[in-house]
Amino acid sequence: MVNLEGKVVLITGASRGIGAAAARAFAKAGALVGVMARNEAAARALAAGIGGMALSGDVSRAADVERAVAALHERFGRLDILVNNAGVIGPIGDIAATDPEAWGQAIDVNLKGVFHGMRAALPVMRAQGGGTILTVGSGAAHAPQEGWSAYCASKAGAYMLTRTLDHEARADGIRAISLSPGTVATDMQAAIRSSGINPVSQLDWSVHIPPEWPARALVWLCGPGGDAFLGDEVSLRDETIRRRIGLVPG
Ligand SMILES: NC(=O)c1ccc[n+]([C@@H]2O[C@H](COP(=O)([O-])OP(=O)(O)OC[C@H]3O[C@@H](n4cnc5c(N)ncnc54)[C@H](OP(=O)(O)O)[C@@H]3O)[C@@H](O)[C@H]2O)c1
Repeated sequence: MVNLEGKVVLITGASRGIGAAAARAFAKAGALVGVMARNEAAARALAAGIGGMALSGDVSRAADVERAVAALHERFGRLDILVNNAGVIGPIGDIAATDPEAWGQAIDVNLKGVFHGMRAALPVMRAQGGGTILTVGSGAAHAPQEGWSAYCASKAGAYMLTRTLDHEARADGIRAISLSPGTVATDMQAAIRSSGINPVSQLDWSVHIPPEWPARALVWLCGPGGDAFLGDEVSLRDETIRRRIGLVPG
């Protein structure tokens, strides 16, 4: 298990699902966790249980993310890890039938939200000599799915942001990695299932991995195991990776 004693981490979209599981996993590894979500009550409840700090905010607003980074920095004096996890699946539907405002809102959260996180964290991390910026990606960045134009486009863009960040900032000690978790049993996957719109929605619930798996993978990527993936994406569909992280025996 990677020891993150004394490290400070900001996790966006940490009120439920993968983000909440990640908050617990990072706390278990010894980190001080900033729990950010729009749902302030949920963020507070989770933060209280893990000795973390609740930070309400919307990643689609640059000022909210800057405020969260500043508040964590003020309280703990540093920021070692950023996990860009917040994301939305909708609007789900045919391109011709999709409302442009709703489409743009998904881009604001899934793509611009990642940019806002990187942009806010970089000055603090550079000043302290480095840091790790993890982004929760998706197979949808590489494989188009009908009904998911905003999701696929935004995840493809977020993957390119990780690659670009690596080019810009690896020399400053910034470790940028994307984690593609495969399908995970969360509210998002339940929404996908009820849409019935593409093959992912038809998957049997039993094939989805628990949110604790990507959570443990995110912690693992903060240790030496992540070094082989700088500027790249790790897929949790990969059995070898699952074994290396210790999610499956072998
Ligand atoms: N589940 C899967 O199968 C799967 C597969 C591949 C990738 N992913 C990715 O994994 C990440 C987490 O997904 P999940 O399955 O855990 O989804 P989820 O259960 O729906 O949780 C999404 C989280 O993001 C937060 N969020 C949404 N919009 C936000 C905003 N504008 N600002 C701040 N927080 C926001 C939500 O909290 P509030 O509503 O309180 O803000 C919630 O905590 C997403 O990036 C998703 O694309 C998931």
